Amino acid sequence: MLENIQSQNDIVEVISQYFPLKRSGQNFKALCPFHSEKTPSFFVSPHKQIFHCFGCGAGGDVFTFIMNREGMTFPEAVRFLAERAHIDLPAEDYGRRGKKEELLKLHELALGYFHWGLMKSSRGGAAREYLEKREITADSVELFKLGYAQPTWDSFLRHAGKKGYKPQLLEEAGLILRRSGGSGWYDRFRNRLIIPVFDTRGRVIAFGGRVLDDSQPKYINSPDTPLFRKGRMLFGLHRAKDAIVKGEEAILGEGYFDVIRAHQEGIGNMVCAQGTAFTLIQAQILKRYADKVVTAFDADQAGSAAALRGLDIFLEKNFEVRIALLPAGEDPDSFIRKNGGEAFRKAVEQSIPLLDFKLADLCEKHNLNSDRGKLTVVRQMLDTISRIESAVLRDSYIKKLARKLNVSESSLREDYRKRKPRRVKENRKKEAISGPEERAQRRLLQCLLRDDKLMSLVLDEFDPADFSPLLRPIAEKMLLLYRKGVLPLSQSLPAALREKELQSLISGWLLESGGQEPVRKEIIDLLVYVKKMGLAARGRELERQISDYSGKGKDIAELQRDSRRLRKQLEDLPDRLKEKFQA
Ligand code: CTP
Ligand code: MN
Repeated sequence: MLENIQSQNDIVEVISQYFPLKRSGQNFKALCPFHSEKTPSFFVSPHKQIFHCFGCGAGGDVFTFIMNREGMTFPEAVRFLAERAHIDLPAEDYGRRGKKEELLKLHELALGYFHWGLMKSSRGGAAREYLEKREITADSVELFKLGYAQPTWDSFLRHAGKKGYKPQLLEEAGLILRRSGGSGWYDRFRNRLIIPVFDTRGRVIAFGGRVLDDSQPKYINSPDTPLFRKGRMLFGLHRAKDAIVKGEEAILGEGYFDVIRAHQEGIGNMVCAQGTAFTLIQAQILKRYADKVVTAFDADQAGSAAALRGLDIFLEKNFEVRIALLPAGEDPDSFIRKNGGEAFRKAVEQSIPLLDFKLADLCEKHNLNSDRGKLTVVRQMLDTISRIESAVLRDSYIKKLARKLNVSESSLREDYRKRKPRRVKENRKKEAISGPEERAQRRLLQCLLRDDKLMSLVLDEFDPADFSPLLRPIAEKMLLLYRKGVLPLSQSLPAALREKELQSLISGWLLESGGQEPVRKEIIDLLVYVKKMGLAARGRELERQISDYSGKGKDIAELQRDSRRLRKQLEDLPDRLKEKFQA
């Protein structure tokens, strides 16, 4: 299993999703992401599938890289890379699940306790005043379930103890800390405003705590726990997801209060990454809801650097990404407070493509009259441009770059072809089981099985012929059962499939807990992909027949007509489906 996951996640490809790699003989090199340096000592070997930094000594395989870069444990990195390659993993074992349930309950208890602390406790007065002064309304307090942690050393510890929770569990939840000398524990969050962090299903999984004055640190957060890992969560998403889907666009901010303020002023599609570098996994999560994102970071050096760091990741995940520019020194929270939600909405509307911003930023930082400056800009822009999926867009950016730098397009294009780190091609075994196509098909079926309503959504586009020979009987059976109204499918399907292999396949899918909850957008994306691949496969089959037949001197006019029709369908498909599902 591990080997399979590793072989489908080429280390050069994976690392290139984070930053550009430059070919250097047999290997690739880059500036090390794990320490700061001026000359590259970070090497990646495509043959050995490892990376190593001669500067700081970091090194390992693709799993190690993901663990370091995304801050994950080994099992999480395995899951992450499996998901990236659309490989299904068996369900988590039940012991771990039981632990998660316990931790969730404990967080629920803490949520209630902190909320009580803010609303009802006598010491919560200072926090209530703080919120009032910041013009955070009672509605927002309720919506985000803000709270307050008492100033005493162990009030939550005692409260949870009375409810039967053991300190060991509280410690694992990150809610208490062990005393450094001697024995005993104390509360992590004391005398702080509490900002709960919810997962997309609305379950509280972590907390942030802000001081009520100017002392440091301004925020403390839950540490990584079995429920929560910074860098793979988007704060506010559970409140924002519907608005994001509806408006087909997300706004990405920097801080808790930017999100709370925006929502308070009716801008419901804003989320933030809790002050960490935006990660691929966050992009992956966001992509389930929208294809467009506008960054609205603090209008300072750090903010624009953060936005630019996110650019490659967004492009890699095929987002249309723009940047909203605020007056210097403002963040969305302060801007909205001064100018109102409408002004912010306008700033978002007037956002510019982040790639344009990058070009302007580079041109400002480098001397375009020097060869060196020019080359730096060219190199950095071409690296980023190479991540754009659409050839048309890539082309227009190369044109733009040529104009801006006053160089000829053809020379840029030549550099582009030479520079582009050749992505290692997936070794696509033709039509074999478990290629990316079949994995997408399987995921689609799996999603549809979770909720019969989803089946009704795709019903008249759902064509078993688009599925592989292995999965086709399952697709056919699902369609039949659905049409007959034998529901829910999750119950009727296993019984209706007679073949043992198919049954165990299905029960595996149904048991799987790791998968994300499907959303409409993911289903539609999958459907488009599956149909596209299905049509393309039929097209290839036709082409083969045509060449066979024409070699034998048979009449191929009809086959050619079919082939043309297929090609037309294939071209129209994305637009047609998009239009259809927009309704
Ligand atoms: N952050 C953190 N720990 C810190 C500082 C920041 O976790 N010590 C995270 C928080 O999620 C914070 C975000 O980074 O919301 C942005 O930080 P910053 O801009 O400093 O805070 P603001 O959100 O602007 O906080 P406020 O408006 O309350 O001052
Ligand atoms: Mn702020």
